[in-house]
Amino acid sequence: MRLGFAVLAVLALAGGTGAAADELKRGEALFQGCRSCHALEPGRVPMAGPTLDGLSGRLLGAAAGFDYSPGFTAMREKGLRWDAERLKAYLADPDAVVPGGWMSPPVGLGEADRAALAAFLLAR
Ligand code: HEC
Repeated sequence: MRLGFAVLAVLALAGGTGAAADELKRGEALFQGCRSCHALEPGRVPMAGPTLDGLSGRLLGAAAGFDYSPGFTAMREKGLRWDAERLKAYLADPDAVVPGGWMSPPVGLGEADRAALAAFLLAR
């Protein structure tokens, strides 16, 4: 009985990990389309957009040294943080999450693409 449960648990875990790993890989590949403006290294990086290092739980608009739009500054002052739901919504329609922000809506991403990007960025 106990052994049966353990085997099931291991199988479930293995299956889950495989799917999650695939999603992370997909997110990493999709992120190539963001790299022209976003780095993944910490600290001040001179690019058009802020570094997306350590996004999980990070306040909106809080990359060190990046000069954000007033829209992002307002969100940071409200204490809003990045999580999967907010990130997916932002990638679908940046202006709906951060009114008056500067990033244009990414072109050609479907729902699964946004989920994969969110998973990849929040896992780092
Ligand atoms: C043409 C340049 C450009 C591209 C391409 C781009 N972004 Fe952005 N992104 C920006 C800018 C600029 C900001 C800051 C906006 C502001 O201050 O209003 C931003 C902000 C963000 C933020 C908020 C970061 C924070 O510090 O709170 C996230 C998350 C983000 N982008 C994700 C992405 C993803 C994922 C992609 C690829 C699908 C992408 N961006 C493509 C320019 C870009």
